[in-house]
Amino acid sequence: MTQRPLTEHLRDDGQQLSIEEYERAGGYQALRKALTQMTPSEVIEEVKASNLRGRGGAGFPTGMKWGACPPGSDMAKPRYAISNSDEMEPGTFKDRLLMQQNPHQLLEGLILCGYAIDAQIGYLFLRWAYTASAKSLMQAVREAYEKGYLGENILGSTFSMDVKMHTSAGRYICGEETALLNALEGVRPIPRSRPPFPAQCGLWGRPTVVNNAETLSNVPHIVRHGAAWYKSLSPSSDGGTKMYGVSGRVKKAGLWELPMGTTIRELLDGRAGGMRDGYTLRGIIPGGASTDFLTGAHLDVKMDFDSMQKAGSRLGTGTMIILDDKTCPVGLVLNLERFFARESCGWCTPCREGLPWIVKILESIEKGEGELGDLDILEWQCQALGPGKTYCVHAPGAVEPLQSALKYFREDFEQHIEEKQCPWKAK
Ligand SMILES: Cc1cc2nc3c(=O)[nH]c(=O)nc-3n(C[C@H](O)[C@H](O)[C@H](O)COP(=O)(O)O)c2cc1C
Ligand code: SF4
Repeated sequence: MTQRPLTEHLRDDGQQLSIEEYERAGGYQALRKALTQMTPSEVIEEVKASNLRGRGGAGFPTGMKWGACPPGSDMAKPRYAISNSDEMEPGTFKDRLLMQQNPHQLLEGLILCGYAIDAQIGYLFLRWAYTASAKSLMQAVREAYEKGYLGENILGSTFSMDVKMHTSAGRYICGEETALLNALEGVRPIPRSRPPFPAQCGLWGRPTVVNNAETLSNVPHIVRHGAAWYKSLSPSSDGGTKMYGVSGRVKKAGLWELPMGTTIRELLDGRAGGMRDGYTLRGIIPGGASTDFLTGAHLDVKMDFDSMQKAGSRLGTGTMIILDDKTCPVGLVLNLERFFARESCGWCTPCREGLPWIVKILESIEKGEGELGDLDILEWQCQALGPGKTYCVHAPGAVEPLQSALKYFREDFEQHIEEKQCPWKAK
């Protein structure tokens, strides 16, 4: 039977697991094991061996990130471990389920990260609108202090750690890990240049690790059962499980924990029940709004980091948006680009000026006022805002749905221009 370590103990009524329920399910045993039987570097080695890759979008190896913190107790202190739960990517709705329904799992992962990198303070950085998650996590933090899993000399060890919560200002850029550090410091949340990386010089100049909430939720299971067990959960070289989501005009939109590398077909047809009656599949944005479209020809592609890249997209957050045949692809991309343009932090010119320009062109095409040369300008803009051209990866991510829409749905753009109207609105 498929194992679902992140979600198998969730309550049927959707309420959060109490600390007692979490403990009965094996909760906090990993922390006990780490504090009594493992050195911090052994925890890092186990996470490295598990091949856990970050679930926040970029897929960076978690153990490697932790290992980049300078070892040794004489190094800069305090250090910080941060859970990134800003989750403002359109189409992405996975971290909130883990936070609302199994908050101790995330907290245990954060404490284990703190132990591994010798952090004295942990932050839960949450999207401002996630009030239910904030409530559930705050209750978990209180319970963890009462039981001695947080605070001075955790479980009688020499390791001490406090955890605080911060709800963000409601800007998408606050989820970018270095902008997040600025937000926590109370200054304008623009990304920082790298190097130095946060592991060396992060919050208030101290070594800091920022990990996605789903990433951290995996850690207690890896420490408790070992890297080999974790890798065995999936046939994919990435190992482990993944919270996958499907939204759009499917029969049962939702979120499921499945082995890493589950195919798009299994998610779309097997879990989401296929397209709603009367609708046909046209496109798939596989990993949240900032990833490239795939199409019906990619149904058998595995949703893991390497397979998605080979197919010309990214796993991103693993939460796919479905485009159907009754939705205008130009209108859909315009909607996404409006979001990305509004959420640009404005720090670098190509992104600040380029994204609104893209929006203007798409608006004119959608209104039937576009010209064929506009498509060349859009393509050029996708190049100009691509990887390495801007200060952070907001802009390259923002143009991914556009560049792939121009590749797969070019005839729809051309039809708007030739017919001087949106064909969907004319129907
Ligand atoms: C504009 C922007 C927004 C982001 N928002 C989030 C977010 O809400 N949550 C998240 O975990 N990562 C987000 N990221 C990615 C983070 O910068 C970072 O890669 C991630 O938190 C690292 O954690 P991981 O290694 O566990 O994936 C965002 C990146 C960008 C460029
Ligand atoms: S790419 Fe956009 S969001 Fe990132 S630093 Fe530049 S202006 Fe800000």
